[in-house]
Amino acid sequence: MEYALMNEKLKNTLNPDRYAHSKGVEEFAAILAQKHGVDTQKARIAGLLHDLAKNMDKEISREIIEKSNVDNSIKETPSLWHGPVGAMLLEKEYEITDPEIFDAVFYHTIGKVNMPPLTKIIYVADAIEPGRDEYFSWSKACRETALSDLDKAVLEVTDRTINSLIERGMKINPVCIDIHNQMVQKY
Ligand SMILES: [Fe+2]
Ligand SMILES: [Fe+2]
Repeated sequence: MEYALMNEKLKNTLNPDRYAHSKGVEEFAAILAQKHGVDTQKARIAGLLHDLAKNMDKEISREIIEKSNVDNSIKETPSLWHGPVGAMLLEKEYEITDPEIFDAVFYHTIGKVNMPPLTKIIYVADAIEPGRDEYFSWSKACRETALSDLDKAVLEVTDRTINSLIERGMKINPVCIDIHNQMVQKY
């Protein structure tokens, strides 16, 4: 499918704020890809489409998740469904079969240890694209970090997530701790 068609289809699928966020992720992912020697076209497509299932009917998402073999920790957390569900719809909805794009969309919210480069880029860009206004000054600093050291940005995004879950009295998915432990060794 041509890029223009994908863009149009996504625009009709998402609410305007979510579409604007997707364009922000696309742009920042392309910049990060260029900086870190990753295919910029793939980064654009993964960034544009990463939230393709975000505004989907919850019951349809639930059916797809229940039939899939994703971890129970994901099955129990509806806010994480749209990553795997989106990845599983890439081929049917957008004719995308690229395994790197699949992985990046699948893991963009939760991340995983040993993330491939494109997955790291979407994980980071999703959290800190310029349109996100939560933690504004932190995001700005983290964008600078991401341009020079992608792994450091992965650590910072993960730690921000862990801290925010603690502040809100919520459960922490063990994957976050695993990513923290893997990345923190480097610094
Ligand atoms: Fe998302
Ligand atoms: Fe997103």
